[in-house]
Amino acid sequence: MATRVKDQITSQFMVRALELAIRGRGRVEPNPMVGCVIERDGRIIAEGYHEKYGGPHAEEVALSRCQDPGGARMFITLEPCSHTGKRPPCTKAVIDAGITEVHIATLDPFLMVSGRGVKELEQAGIQCLVGVNAEDAKRLNAPYFKRVIRGMPYVTLKWAMTLDGKIATRTGESKWISGEKARERVHVMRNRVDAVVVGIGTVLADDPLLTCRVEGGRNPRRCIIDPLAQLSLDSHIVKTAKEVPTFLVVGKTAAAARLDKLQETGITLLKMQLKDGHVDLEGLLRYLAQKEFTNVLVEGGGNIAASMLTEKLVDKVVVFIAPKVVGGRDAITPVEGEGIEKIADALEIDDLKIGIVGQDIMIEGFPR
Ligand SMILES: NC(=O)c1ccc[n+]([C@@H]2O[C@H](COP(=O)([O-])OP(=O)(O)OC[C@H]3O[C@@H](n4cnc5c(N)ncnc54)[C@H](OP(=O)(O)O)[C@@H]3O)[C@@H](O)[C@H]2O)c1
Repeated sequence: MATRVKDQITSQFMVRALELAIRGRGRVEPNPMVGCVIERDGRIIAEGYHEKYGGPHAEEVALSRCQDPGGARMFITLEPCSHTGKRPPCTKAVIDAGITEVHIATLDPFLMVSGRGVKELEQAGIQCLVGVNAEDAKRLNAPYFKRVIRGMPYVTLKWAMTLDGKIATRTGESKWISGEKARERVHVMRNRVDAVVVGIGTVLADDPLLTCRVEGGRNPRRCIIDPLAQLSLDSHIVKTAKEVPTFLVVGKTAAAARLDKLQETGITLLKMQLKDGHVDLEGLLRYLAQKEFTNVLVEGGGNIAASMLTEKLVDKVVVFIAPKVVGGRDAITPVEGEGIEKIADALEIDDLKIGIVGQDIMIEGFPR
């Protein structure tokens, strides 16, 4: 029987394995990030992590770098796989290597693995300890856990606003509210997500590209919520649709001739039933999760943000506040919609992290 750690137990070796795991962020999805450390007599003798989707798993990498793993202990941030997927089962590699003790941060919620990996190791006489640094490991792979358990991607909502709480001027102009460093940070975020989602209001106002301009980075898929298929054929999105996979979420009743023209540009149309003229955002996110999208970045505008928050679809918010004031009662705010009546009903944001990025303040937090 695997020993389950009841109280929070931490290990410096698991901390190291977690540090390694995070290096795979944005490259391994839809797989989880995994790190692995092999230790003997208090010394790390080999380590590795899952670097990219389809590539060797963390255990395989660490074992390939270990000359003499026999009798050593292994620390893995997630239960080793026991089935043949894109790679052979890691349990077999661990058993064949002669590892005698395995510390695992969390079980894998994926049904093909969950509990089976540990069982197989134990049947081979390997002692397993499950739950070491479990909270850190669950936080690290929260997007993977959410998709596998709830069939939804992890949603980060991001906006840039002025000191007086506007995301655009009264004419709808928003380039640029935040400074260069903050914008660079957004490109790093895009480099790590599977899709960027925006509303058509944003595309009509800003004509954005929504690509990732990090050196050596890769573009997320683009997803535009456009019930009436208003996207201009001259837009940057359309002009780059052959190079950057783009979904246009349209109503089933949008004009067929227009849809044909848009489809010819390389855009993929997602036709959805509308409710009161609006796209079912939860349905859209479920669809993206089915396509194995693990991380989604919602970049506005104010009306899409309002619906996402009201429908409790957001896991994390990232806000840049620029030291600028634009004023104007008609200038758009980060969260539009009806709003609430009582402060007591306000959505609270937990676990705030506050920093300075260039000239802007950056706030990250998690809607309660
Ligand atoms: N500073 C920033 O970070 C930032 C980021 C993005 C955008 N912006 C600015 O924000 C402005 C655009 O924001 P916006 O609020 O006008 O447009 P938006 O949120 O980008 O898009 C709203 C559009 O989506 C439609 N829609 C479809 N399904 C919806 C749903 N479930 N919930 C809500 N809307 C849905 C709306 O339809 P209906 O019209 O029928 O409601 C509307 O046509 C621009 O000025 C842009 O520059 C700033």
